[in-house]
Amino acid sequence: MRKKIFFFILPFIAMKINAQNSIVIHADMGKDTINRNIYGHFAEHLGHCIYGGFYVGENNPKIPNVNGVRSDVIEALKKLKIPVLRWPGGCFADTYHWKDGIGPKDKRPSMLNVWWGNVKEDNSFGTNEFLNMCELLGAQPYISGNVGSGSPQELSDWVKYADHPNGSSPMTDLRQKNGRTNPWNVKYWGLGNEAWGCGGNMTAEYYANVYRQFATFMNNPGKRLYRIASGASDDDYHWTEVLMKEIPPYLYDALGLHHYSVIDWNKKSSATNFSEEEYFITMKKALLMDELVTKHSAIMDKYDPAKKKGLVVDEWGGWYDVEPGTNPAFLFQQNTMRDAMIAGTTLNIFNNHCDRVRMANLAQTINVLQAVILTNEEKMILTPTYHVMEMYNVHQDAVMLPLELTSNDYTVGSEKLKAISASASRDKNGAIHISLVNIDAENSQDVSITMNGLIFKTVTGRILTSERLQNYNSFENPDKIEPKSFSKAIIKGSNISVKLPPFSAVVLELK
Ligand code: AHR
Repeated sequence: MRKKIFFFILPFIAMKINAQNSIVIHADMGKDTINRNIYGHFAEHLGHCIYGGFYVGENNPKIPNVNGVRSDVIEALKKLKIPVLRWPGGCFADTYHWKDGIGPKDKRPSMLNVWWGNVKEDNSFGTNEFLNMCELLGAQPYISGNVGSGSPQELSDWVKYADHPNGSSPMTDLRQKNGRTNPWNVKYWGLGNEAWGCGGNMTAEYYANVYRQFATFMNNPGKRLYRIASGASDDDYHWTEVLMKEIPPYLYDALGLHHYSVIDWNKKSSATNFSEEEYFITMKKALLMDELVTKHSAIMDKYDPAKKKGLVVDEWGGWYDVEPGTNPAFLFQQNTMRDAMIAGTTLNIFNNHCDRVRMANLAQTINVLQAVILTNEEKMILTPTYHVMEMYNVHQDAVMLPLELTSNDYTVGSEKLKAISASASRDKNGAIHISLVNIDAENSQDVSITMNGLIFKTVTGRILTSERLQNYNSFENPDKIEPKSFSKAIIKGSNISVKLPPFSAVVLELK
């Protein structure tokens, strides 16, 4: 009898061991567009993000620049197709008075950057510098307005300075005096940052009222602004519920959401020297984004079933201890294959939720947190996160293709996560792109992809991986990790079989 049971169970054991990851892509069913702004970035006056990162000064003799903005950074971000850039914070935004950052530089007052190390902020990079830089980059600016310590008048004046037609007010006269005649037409405006915390420690109910007051005085004749309310932290669903209920639809276009992949706020651990257990926890926090977006969206659906309002994840990414020997307030951290895994899985989540997620801003672009670029004087390197974002930029403005994913587990101790993450889209030329991530630190994964409703002839691909999860690009070895061409995708009839190495991100193109 025992023998019989064994033979009965055997096929199931075998099935489990050889379990096949499978993806069915409904190529004939896409209807929602992946807003290019999902691939957005964030630049705060924090550490060396702005000063030394983007901006090195107009008269810098050592570092090639255009109007003070590093030429190497401009080139790298253009290649990334950076669609939108959020500025000037972060927590800094609610201490920032924009009029201190305009006009002749030698007349601009200084201040202490109280959130980030009490360093001197000389205001040499201000509104004109930021908006002109966005034009150079071909990126839309997203200005985060000061609600916490500013006034409705100050924010209303900023909108006039940036957006109103020439000659229409003292603010536009000021703009002209500062060398800029035509408006920049800034569309995206945030009203405060983390209003529940560094932006004023407000309750949701109180902030909703303050929001209504500030938003009333922000307008641009003939052109609708896209006003973004300071959103919830992580799973604060009450915040989203109150804002949806209390802010009239005509006063806002989107709600924010912030979520960082941090192991423990009191013990974040090293960015490069981490165990598999720590990696697992980071990935668990990163994958939580799916649940957060789903649940915040469900609340928004109750008030806005037509999905007119956006969810803007305007801060996301991995957060670790700073690099040894660097200023703890500058949040400078290295970037490994772990960060590539965070980026690949998170962008897949945003793509798959593009019916509600209209923008996201990785924190932060240069030298801060999960940066895409690191600089050291005249040297500049691209991180694994940069490479994932560059590989994935094929999804920008493409039609998202719904998919069904069955994944093996990635198990560490008694806990498990799905090993595979995926998203797919069809671009305007008809090419299909599938982005796949295997987060499993030990095992490669075979994936069988079935394309419903599509006949294709060729498959090509690119892969980002490395020998060790802890590997990173350094100033000494800047190209250690970079995308390579990928040949482990094989067409079999209407199926593609793919072999994904451990901790790898792959983007396939089908034609
Ligand atoms: O990105 C760093 C900081 O994290 C931002 O200033 C703040 O909004 C968040 O808490």
